[in-house]
Amino acid sequence: MQRRDHHDWTSETYVEEWVRRQQAEDPARAERFQLMCDLLPFADDAAVTIVDVGTGYGPVSQFILDRFPHAVCIGQDGSKPMLHRARQLMARYSERFLVHQSDLFDANWLPKPLGPFDAIVSSSCLHNLRDFKRIGEIYGEIRAQLKPGGVFLNLDLVNAPTPALQQRYEGVAMKRRQRAGASREDVEAMVRRRERSPANGSAGPFPAGLDQHLAALRAVGFSEVDCFWKDLQRALYGGFA
Ligand SMILES: C[S@@+](CC[C@H](N)C(=O)[O-])C[C@H]1O[C@@H](n2cnc3c(N)ncnc32)[C@H](O)[C@@H]1O
Repeated sequence: MQRRDHHDWTSETYVEEWVRRQQAEDPARAERFQLMCDLLPFADDAAVTIVDVGTGYGPVSQFILDRFPHAVCIGQDGSKPMLHRARQLMARYSERFLVHQSDLFDANWLPKPLGPFDAIVSSSCLHNLRDFKRIGEIYGEIRAQLKPGGVFLNLDLVNAPTPALQQRYEGVAMKRRQRAGASREDVEAMVRRRERSPANGSAGPFPAGLDQHLAALRAVGFSEVDCFWKDLQRALYGGFA
């Protein structure tokens, strides 16, 4: 699995620490996951197959499987330690949660023998690739494996529209951290990261802005493309096949 940023998803200890911190955020993420479920274009009792791209420890799949009792989720990820955790945490879903290990830089990353799929979802994954060209190709690969009427929903980090807005968003994020009780050291570390970040003079550290993502989805044939929720640099966007 190719490594493109500071995350070391192949390390047991890194993944263990990352999952511990991320799980503390899950209650705050629940509303977004709920919106993803609300946008899925099928009835609660539908027998559907959904791919969760970069599933991590499986938080999105868990939400979907609780909401759709006849659904099967395939948790795709490139990280062995992450999939090990997903298997443990999702064991109660038995055959309704399957895992598929593959690298998103590999053209055959999708579990095609199990497709085509009713929906493909992803949370906080694709920005890790740091490669917008590859992300555009992945959008095309996803579009090709969706059933007619199926949906792709991506909850991910996007750049601000302008460098000035990027600076403003980072300031807001810092104020939120302070209000949430972050220590002085944490806030100072955030300021240092902000000074070091490519955001100085650019519109952000992520592969692309929201408009570029929406255009890339339209370019590979998605329709009804939209951003369904946005808060600063986090957005839930997607389209229908
Ligand atoms: C930030 S975590 C998100 C996990 C989960 N979806 C969530 O919302 O908590 C990103 C995940 O993407 C996976 N990932 C990153 N780059 C990848 C690649 N090139 N191929 C496959 N998976 C990758 C990592 O292993 C990790 O589990």
